[in-house]
Amino acid sequence: MTTPVSVQFAATDLDAISAHTGQVAVFVEASGKLDQTARRINRLTKGALERFAESETFADLSVGQAHVLSFPAGMDATAVIVAKLDRKPTTEDARKAGSAIGKAKSSDSLLVLGGNIHKAAEIAQGIALRAYDYRDHKTGDEKPAPGGVVFMCSRPEEAGAEARDLLSVVDGVFFTRDLTNAPANHLTTTEFANQLAELAKLGVEVEILEEDALEALGMRTLLSVGQGSDSPSKVVVMQWKGGKDEAPFALVGKGVVFDTGGISLKPAAGMEDMTMDMGGAGVVSGVMKAVALRKAEANVVGLVGLVENMPGPNATRPGDVVTSMKGDTVEIINTDAEGRLVLADVLWYAQERFKPVGMINLATLTGAIIIGLGHEKAGVFSNDDDLCNAFLAAADAESEGAWRMPLDPAYDKQLKSRIADMKNVGGRAAGSITAGQFLQRFVQDDMPWCHLDIAGVASVAAETSFAPKGATGWGVRALNRLIADKYEA
Ligand code: BES
Ligand code: MN
Ligand code: ZN
Repeated sequence: MTTPVSVQFAATDLDAISAHTGQVAVFVEASGKLDQTARRINRLTKGALERFAESETFADLSVGQAHVLSFPAGMDATAVIVAKLDRKPTTEDARKAGSAIGKAKSSDSLLVLGGNIHKAAEIAQGIALRAYDYRDHKTGDEKPAPGGVVFMCSRPEEAGAEARDLLSVVDGVFFTRDLTNAPANHLTTTEFANQLAELAKLGVEVEILEEDALEALGMRTLLSVGQGSDSPSKVVVMQWKGGKDEAPFALVGKGVVFDTGGISLKPAAGMEDMTMDMGGAGVVSGVMKAVALRKAEANVVGLVGLVENMPGPNATRPGDVVTSMKGDTVEIINTDAEGRLVLADVLWYAQERFKPVGMINLATLTGAIIIGLGHEKAGVFSNDDDLCNAFLAAADAESEGAWRMPLDPAYDKQLKSRIADMKNVGGRAAGSITAGQFLQRFVQDDMPWCHLDIAGVASVAAETSFAPKGATGWGVRALNRLIADKYEA
C-alpha cells in the first residue's frame, strides 16, 4: 500500500529555516519579488535566491513550475526547491506548483515556506498527489519511509482545516493507483474483493456477491466473461450512507483484473498493459474511500464487477448467445469486447436494487477512445445534459480532462444480430460510440446516466500533471467534487 505523505501546518518560524536538515521549498512571484521567508533564504545563501530570481532560468519557468537549488551554502538543507507562484494564485496554479514540489521531493523531510500565500491547502494537495511512488513489488535497497511535510504559513489552523478533505481525496486517489498498478497475479478478483472489504473500517457497508448469487440473479453476461478463468467472478457492493433517506447516487466500475481478450485472444505485444483493465473499478473504489474518509453528507453506492477474461476449455466462444439479467440476449461475436458484458449486468442490478438518483459508470472500455482523444481526455457519453454538464464542470475544476462524445440511436443498427437481440460489437467504425450505445440498452428510461470511457487516461506511459507514469487515479477528484457539489446539501 502506498500511503500519502503526512502534511502538518505550522506558523512561520523564520529562525527554523537555517537549521532544517531536509529539503526546503519556497515561492517566488513571477515578478521576481521575494517575500519575507524568501528574503531569509536569500540572506542565508548570501544572495543566491535573488540571483536565481533574476536569471534566465527563472524567467523561463512557467507559473507553477519549480527549480531545485542543491546543497545551498549557508543552510543545513539538502536542497531549496523554488516554485514560481504568485501570492494569490489560481487553484490550478496552486495545485501545479504543489505538484512540481512533490515531484522534486526526496525521501528527506520537507519544510514548505508558504509565508502569507493563498491556497496553501491546494498546494499541499498538489504535493501529496505527485509524491507517489509504487514500490509494492521492489525488494532490496529498502527505502526508508519518506519524511513528512511541514507547511509553514500565516494561518495554519485555517489551512489545515481546508486541507483535511483535500488530503482525504489524495488517499482515495492513491488507493485507485495502487489497485490499477497492481499486477494481475497479485490483484486477483479475490484479492480485489478482500481489499474492498477493508473499507468497512471506514464505515462503508461492503457486500461481496459470489458466483452462485450472481447466477441466481441471472447475471449471465457478466459470468460469461469470467468463466474461462480459475479466479471466481464477483460483484462487490459498497454503500456509504452519509446522507438522509434520499436515494443514493450510483457509481459502477469495470473490474477486469486481466483482459487477455479470451478466445478472441489479443496479440502478445503490449498485452501486459491489460493489468489495468480494472481501472474503472479502481476509480469507484477510490471515490468510496475518499467520501468515507471525509465523511461526505451524501448517499453513494459503488458497484464493481470483478472478473478475469481468459481463454480456456470453459471460456465463452465467439458466436455464443447469453442472456443478460435484464433479459435481453447478446450474441458474443468477439470475446474481447467483454467490458460492456460485465457492465450490462452490474448497471441493471444497480438500478433494480437501488433506484439511484443518477448513475455514472467508468470503464477502460475501448481502444478506439484512445484513437479519438489520446491520453489527455476521457470520453463522456450521457443521456442527460444536467448530469453530464455537472460532471464536465467538476472535471474541469479538477484539471481532469474529459470530453463529451455523442450517443445516437442511428448507431444502433451496427449492433443488430441475426439470431439474438443484439451483438456485442459494432465493427470498427465509431467503436467507442457503439460501445456506449450497447451500455445504454441497460440503462432504464429517465435514469440520468454518464458512461466514462477511461481507456486512455487510467494508466499512461508518461508522467502527467499530478502523477508519475503508470496509474493516474483519473476521475477520483472529479467524481468526489461532483458528489460534493451536486449531492451534498
Ligand atoms: N480493455 C480493452 C480496451 C482497452 C484498450 C483498454 C487499450 C485500455 C487500453 C477492451 O476490453 C477491448 O479489448 N476492447 C476492444 C473492443 C473491440 C473488440 C470491439 C478494442 O478496443 O479493441
Ligand atoms: Mn477486451
Ligand atoms: Zn477489457
